[in-house]
Amino acid sequence: MTDKELMLRAISAREYAYAPYSGFRVGAALLAKNGAVYTGCNVENASYTPTNCAERTAVFKAVSEGIKEFEKIAIVGGMGEDIADFCAPCGVCRQVLAEFCDPNFPIILGTPDNLSVLTLAQLLPHSFGKADLHE
Ligand code: THU
Repeated sequence: MTDKELMLRAISAREYAYAPYSGFRVGAALLAKNGAVYTGCNVENASYTPTNCAERTAVFKAVSEGIKEFEKIAIVGGMGEDIADFCAPCGVCRQVLAEFCDPNFPIILGTPDNLSVLTLAQLLPHSFGKADLHE
């Protein structure tokens, strides 16, 4: 699957965003190494802090089905119907991706006609991870 195709899946997933409080709607599409695509949207809550980001929705859907090896992820977001030129993942989502993905894991951002591909290490340098918990 091309980067653009994966981003189009993220745009479709964004249709389901539940964002009545911020109005900022995010979609993510996570390609697993087995070829399956796990999509996610943000899911907000009246109590605010239980809100789950689109990226984590996608990762948790996959992991909860036993899938933990991933190829790449595409992320799109923006206010209302607009898709922003660039929507980077929040720090918590970067940390969740780092639990399962290599430093060179590609993160596809931007818009279908103007993609940027950054690695996880570029977005989360000097990260804390499972290796730190071993002697
Ligand atoms: N959001 C995401 O879904 N992913 C991110 O990486 C950044 C933020 C959502 C959370 C919240 O519903 C809205 O965008 C505004 O922060």
